[in-house]
Amino acid sequence: MEENAISLKEISKSFGTVKVLDNVDFDLKKGSVHALVGGNGAGKSTLMKILTGVYSHDQGTILVDGKPAEMKTYSDAVNKGISLIFQELSLIPTLSIVENIFLNRELSRFRVLSKAKMRTRSLELLAELGISADPSMLIKDLDVGVCQMIEIAKAMAVNARVIIMDEPTASLTEKETETLFGLVGQLKKKGVSIIYISHRMNEVFKICDEISVLRNGKVVAHRKTADYTLETLIGDIIGNKERKAFVHTSREDQISDETLLEVRNLSMGLRLQDVSFRLRRGEILGFAGLMASGRTETLEALFGVQPSDSGTVILEGTPRRFRSVQEAIRAGVVLIPEDRRREGLVLEHSVLENLCLPNLNGLMRGFKLNRRLAGELASDSVDEFKVKTPSVQTVMEDLSGGNQQKVVIAKWLKTKPKVLMMDEPTAGIDIGAKAEIMQLVRDFASKKNGVIFVSSELTELMAVCDRVLIFQKGRIVGEMLASQIQDEEVLQHAIQH
Ligand SMILES: Nc1ncnc2c1ncn2[C@@H]1O[C@H](COP(=O)(O)OP(=O)(O)OP(=O)(O)O)[C@@H](O)[C@H]1O
Ligand SMILES: [Mg+2]
Repeated sequence: MEENAISLKEISKSFGTVKVLDNVDFDLKKGSVHALVGGNGAGKSTLMKILTGVYSHDQGTILVDGKPAEMKTYSDAVNKGISLIFQELSLIPTLSIVENIFLNRELSRFRVLSKAKMRTRSLELLAELGISADPSMLIKDLDVGVCQMIEIAKAMAVNARVIIMDEPTASLTEKETETLFGLVGQLKKKGVSIIYISHRMNEVFKICDEISVLRNGKVVAHRKTADYTLETLIGDIIGNKERKAFVHTSREDQISDETLLEVRNLSMGLRLQDVSFRLRRGEILGFAGLMASGRTETLEALFGVQPSDSGTVILEGTPRRFRSVQEAIRAGVVLIPEDRRREGLVLEHSVLENLCLPNLNGLMRGFKLNRRLAGELASDSVDEFKVKTPSVQTVMEDLSGGNQQKVVIAKWLKTKPKVLMMDEPTAGIDIGAKAEIMQLVRDFASKKNGVIFVSSELTELMAVCDRVLIFQKGRIVGEMLASQIQDEEVLQHAIQH
C-alpha cells in the first residue's frame, strides 16, 4: 500500500523573475501530522496553494496516493479529498455560516442536499469545534476567532483525507486552540493526514510527527519531531543568520518618572470596571490576561473605537476624550489591532498605498498627494522594517502573511505616535522578525514615547515589557515589574488566580 497521501516532487515556481520555490520535495505520510515551517516569505503558503490548484507550478509533479494528479483549480483538489484552510480568511462576510461552509459545493457534491440538511450538518460541525453560533448568523457579525473555526468547519465539511492548515491558530484563543488540537488528534485517528503551518514552535512540537523546514524556497531539512530540539529547529529555520537574543534587557535608565498617559476609573458596562493605570515616558507596559479579561476593551476605549461609560484619560497632562479613531490618531495615540487582516490593511492596494494611508496629512500638497514624498516614505519603511517585497508598488495580497503584518506596524509607527498600543502584534511573524519587531518597539519607547503591549504569548510579554498589569474579568487585579517575573509560570499563575 502506498505510504504517502501526498508526494510533491521537484516543485519549482517563479513569480515574474523571482524564484520562490526551488526543486521542493515534500512527502505527507498517511495519518500523520507534518509541520511545514520557515521564515516569512519562505514559500510555505505558495507550496500549499500549488498543491491545491490555487496556483500553477512551473515544474515538478504532484502525486496523490502515489498517482500523478493534475491540480488545475481548487475544485480538483477538493474532489481528491484535499482541502486548504487559508492563512488569509476566505469567508464571505455578507453570507451566513452555513452558506459559507457549503459555498460552491451546494451544486457539485451536494446536489441533492436540502437547506435543512446543510443546517443540520453545520450544527454538527460547529458542535465538534465547540462553537455555539447559529448557522444562520452572518460572518461579518462574528469574532475573528470564530471565523477561523468556521474556516476549519468548511474544510471538514468535505470529509477531506488531507487537510492543510496554514497558521490556523494565529487568531484563536487558547481554549479554541486546545479544541483544534483535540480535533487534530481525532482526525489523525480517522486516518486523515494533516499539513500544519505555524510560527509557534510549541504547537509544532506538541502536535506534529515530523517537520520540514523551508528557507528561501528550498527544503533545507526534514526530520522526525523527536529528532529536533527547539534550538536545532530554530537554527534550521533561520540558517546561519545571527540568532538575536529574545530575552529581556533592562531598560530602567530609559524610563522617566514623568507620566505620559494616565487612565482613571475607565468603565464600560460589565466588560471594564474601574480600570486605572499610568504609562510613563519611555515605558513598555504589558497587559496580561485571559480572553475577554478586558485587555482589548481597554485599548479600544482608549483609541475611541468603543465609547466608555465613564472614566478620565489624561494625555501629557491634559484630559482627553476621543470620540473617534481620527481624534485619537491626531492626538498621537494609535492602536495596531488584533485582527490586522480585517482592520489593518487594504489587501487589493499596493504596499505604498497602505503605508501612506494613515500618513496622508504629511504627504498632501494642497489637494494632491506628493508622489515623491509618498515614494520616499514607502521605500524608507520597507528598508527600516525589512519588509520582503519585490517593490513598493506590489499589491499587499502578493506579500507573505508575516510581511503584510510588518507593513501594518510600519504604517502606524510612521504616523509618529506618542502612545503606541499593540494587540497581539507578532501573530504570524517569524522568529527572526519577532526579534526585529521587539527591537523596533524598544527603540520607539526609548524616544520618550510609551507602549502598551498585549500578547497571549507570555514569553513575549516577559521579553519586551518593563511592567505587566494583570487583567481579570474587566479589572486590573495586579501588577508585576519585569524583575519580579522569574519565569512564565509566575505570570501564568497571576493570570489564572
Ligand atoms: N501572487 C503572488 N505574486 C507575486 N509574488 C508572490 C505571490 N504570492 C507570494 N509571493 C511571494 O512569494 C514568496 C513566498 O510567499 P509565501 O506567501 O509562500 O510565504 P510564506 O512562507 O507563506 O510566509 P509567511 O510565513 O509570512 O506566511 C514571497 O516573497 C511573496 O512575496
Ligand atoms: Mg504564508
